[in-house]
Amino acid sequence: MQHRSGEHGPAGPVAPDAEPGADEVAATVALVEDHAPRIFTWRYERERPQLATLYGKAMAAQWNSETDLDWSTDVDPERLVADMGDAGVPPVFRVAATIPGSPLAAWGERELRRLGVELLQARLSQFMHGEQGAMIVAAKLVETVPWIDAKYYASTQTMDEARHTEVFARYLATKIGDPYPMTPFLQAQITALMQDSRWDIAYLGMQIVIESLALAAFGELRRTVSEPLLARILRYVMADEARHVAFGVVSLSEHYAQLTAAELLERQQFLAESTLFSRARATTPEVWERLGLSLPEVLPYLQQAMATTGPGFAGQFVQAFYAKLVPNVRKLGLLDANDGWLRREWERAGLLAFDGGADTASDYDDYDVAAELRARRVAAGAAAPAAGRDA
Ligand SMILES: [Fe+2]
Ligand SMILES: [Fe+2]
Repeated sequence: MQHRSGEHGPAGPVAPDAEPGADEVAATVALVEDHAPRIFTWRYERERPQLATLYGKAMAAQWNSETDLDWSTDVDPERLVADMGDAGVPPVFRVAATIPGSPLAAWGERELRRLGVELLQARLSQFMHGEQGAMIVAAKLVETVPWIDAKYYASTQTMDEARHTEVFARYLATKIGDPYPMTPFLQAQITALMQDSRWDIAYLGMQIVIESLALAAFGELRRTVSEPLLARILRYVMADEARHVAFGVVSLSEHYAQLTAAELLERQQFLAESTLFSRARATTPEVWERLGLSLPEVLPYLQQAMATTGPGFAGQFVQAFYAKLVPNVRKLGLLDANDGWLRREWERAGLLAFDGGADTASDYDDYDVAAELRARRVAAGAAAPAAGRDA
């Protein structure tokens, strides 16, 4: 992948070099080559009723980022973080601030809250970048999947992901502050999907792995945030994401039923690599830089503090991720193919404790907000915008 700044990329004119002071924004655009062939199909028959149903639901569930959200909501980032309690400023940082010699030793509640705001900003920034990646990969699915019903569905997903990118970008810009750059971990995972020549790998990586990751991450934040605008954004976005995972599960169940053992093993290996990689998420170093410190300075104290607090938030997040992922992968047949190759890999990593939950092909209706939106529109009358205040 190449980075370009201050020149005209394939998408048209781009902004000139970032102004001095914005040095954390390393590049304006990134170019990624796609090696997958685009597929034109002449079979227009609606042969896949499950995908046709999902497409119908996606059309009915479209929400409007302008009129369904109350952008006039006043947001105080410090208050938002304070209301999140331990999820806003995780105990590990408070403990690190009590260790003699720690760069955080002089910190009081004000500094800890400032850190909490930066951590939230960093999380929302990854959501925003990840959503743009999802938009691009969904567009790739439109181009590369051979089935017309899947092309139709992926088109609705592209629109969903555009809306998600837009709302996180707007929330950051108007309510919280300057975004952080995409983490190398997330960027590497998504660009690999953009480059892969096999259409189902983009599906597997995005619809199953990254969407499950997103559902877990949004769910964690939603459980702890009481600020009504962000809570509502997360609720709407999660309703769409659950449908996206269902799209992946339904499509890939059919495709994988026809693959050879050797082809299935490739997919199992892809899953083992991308999920064990997901566990190794690093702290965003830029957070510390914005606070006038550096990660190497702080890290030894964080590790020392973690020995007493445990993984905390990160542990719950990992649990929520695998609780989504494992049942979906089982449904695809990838857990047990090749004499349970992936089952053994994940067992070794201690991840099979999460098997047994509902797969997202069947539980996505639980997230549905479309019915509520329709009711609200009817109640508000056709002329009035449907923006509300409750979460
Ligand atoms: Fe999304
Ligand atoms: Fe999605």
